[in-house]
Amino acid sequence: MHDIIEQLERKRAAARLGGGQRRIDAQHAKGKLTARERLELLLDEGSFEEWDMFVEHRCVDFGMADNKVPGDGVVTGYGTINGRLVFVFSQDFTVFGGALSEAHAEKICKVMDQAMKVGAPVIGLNDSGGARIQEGVASLGGYAEVFQRNVMASGVVPQISLIMGPSAGGAVYSPAMTDFIFMVRDSAYMFVTGPEVVKTVTHEEVTAEELGGAVTHTTKSGVADLAFDDDIQALLMLRRFFNYLPLNNREKPPLRPSGDPADRTDMSLDTLVPDNPNKPYEIKELILKVVDDGDFFELQPDYAKNIVIGFGRMDGRSVGIVANNPMVLAGCLDIRSSIKAARFVRFCDAFNIPVVTFVDVPGFMPGTSQEFGGIIKHGAKLLYAYAECTVPKVTVITRKAYGGAYDVMASKHLRGDVNLAWPNAEIAVMGAKGAVEIIFREDKGDPAKLAAREAEYKARFANPFVAGARGYIDDVIQPHETRKRICRSLAMLKDKKVENPWRKHGNIPL
Ligand code: HXC
Repeated sequence: MHDIIEQLERKRAAARLGGGQRRIDAQHAKGKLTARERLELLLDEGSFEEWDMFVEHRCVDFGMADNKVPGDGVVTGYGTINGRLVFVFSQDFTVFGGALSEAHAEKICKVMDQAMKVGAPVIGLNDSGGARIQEGVASLGGYAEVFQRNVMASGVVPQISLIMGPSAGGAVYSPAMTDFIFMVRDSAYMFVTGPEVVKTVTHEEVTAEELGGAVTHTTKSGVADLAFDDDIQALLMLRRFFNYLPLNNREKPPLRPSGDPADRTDMSLDTLVPDNPNKPYEIKELILKVVDDGDFFELQPDYAKNIVIGFGRMDGRSVGIVANNPMVLAGCLDIRSSIKAARFVRFCDAFNIPVVTFVDVPGFMPGTSQEFGGIIKHGAKLLYAYAECTVPKVTVITRKAYGGAYDVMASKHLRGDVNLAWPNAEIAVMGAKGAVEIIFREDKGDPAKLAAREAEYKARFANPFVAGARGYIDDVIQPHETRKRICRSLAMLKDKKVENPWRKHGNIPL
């Protein structure tokens, strides 16, 4: 018995050592933690239950029969984050560069399958050279098995990817199908084809960092949601982020009681919006003043900044917040912001997280680049997302709500449950100037007459009461009472039940 126990310990020690001390040192020298060190930081202390430590690859080509490391380059299992269950896999770059073999993929699939059975999120820590080259098609099959599970788990349990090293080739598509992608600056990169192939095919010279680093994906492509400075920051922030999410699509979002009174008022909000309707203001100030304890977890802060998305809590419960930001492009909706917000609204809807929308939108962005880029189709994504969404929807119009963008931004007509407006709100088909230039074209040569028409149009429509008279706005509220009114609305909506008609699936304009 003693021998067997010793043998077990030897095997465990070999697995823990991964690709060996030399490679562990190399990983550290790059400023990266090992797969196991990362899990230690991510999970509650002592909570990790490891599975499949003794799994080995089955490849015999290219001398691989004698080159086996127990665990085969990925550490898998489950644990807790602040006491809540989560399944994890963490790729070990010290073992064949974290490359994915058939056996490695089977380990990932096993935790995904179990997560689906018990209804718990899956977090993947990605650090991998892609398909295990020695294995060929067996490894490709392994990837596809993971992809299939990503899709089946989508909308059932939250899936989060943290990219902490290379993620290249088809390997990017598993993270791409998860709900959120976080990256580490300077050590993580994601691309479908690397710099060498790019050079051959398009003759562009580009570094891996420029092509697919964290900055690229959080500012240019929008592929990733957040970038962090190092492994430690990324893992600690991921723990914080996890607290906002329910464990599965049957759960309500977690409750985190706070000392912040639900009826707290904030007088400074009464002067947030400048008198001049063309002057911008920082919408994030409103968000921070309205959510519990000023705690707002923003996603994609450096991409499509004309819309702000992220999680906060109202009276203890997670809410998703979507807000036009007048500081950027006057808060117009364009292709990128529509896609950014649409995906977020759909996540919230899938996971029972109420959506709070702050509206200050002059309309959709005009221009050839937007039209040629397909703003019709992409803008429709946000419209579709809000319209199909059945979670509680509370909307506050803080200033402008013009044209199609008024309809899109969780209006009453898209089943907004509670639609509020500040007293200075302007809700109309378009701005007064543009409107009179069209309907009073004959007065074009007479600026004084046109100005009078404009003033008339403004007085008639640039207010919340026309919409209020039709019941499109439930109430016109004082800015300082915004938090109180939202909290009350959400409390009223706590047990809201709405079902969309049965169908296999809708056909969102992709
Ligand atoms: C097997 C691999 C590997 C791979 C790296 N290694 N990638 N082994 N299969 N895909 C091994 C290396 O041989 C090396 O072993 C160790 O991992 C570390 O690699 P290095 O090259 O020394 O590290 P570094 O300089 O940091 O470079 C990392 C890297 C590079 C950029 C990821 O290794 C690389 O370009 N690898 C190949 C990437 C690739 O083309 N993968 C296939 C993509 S196609 P030793 O023993 O020396 O430590 C794909 C298809 C998926 O993934 C399709 C799904 C649909």
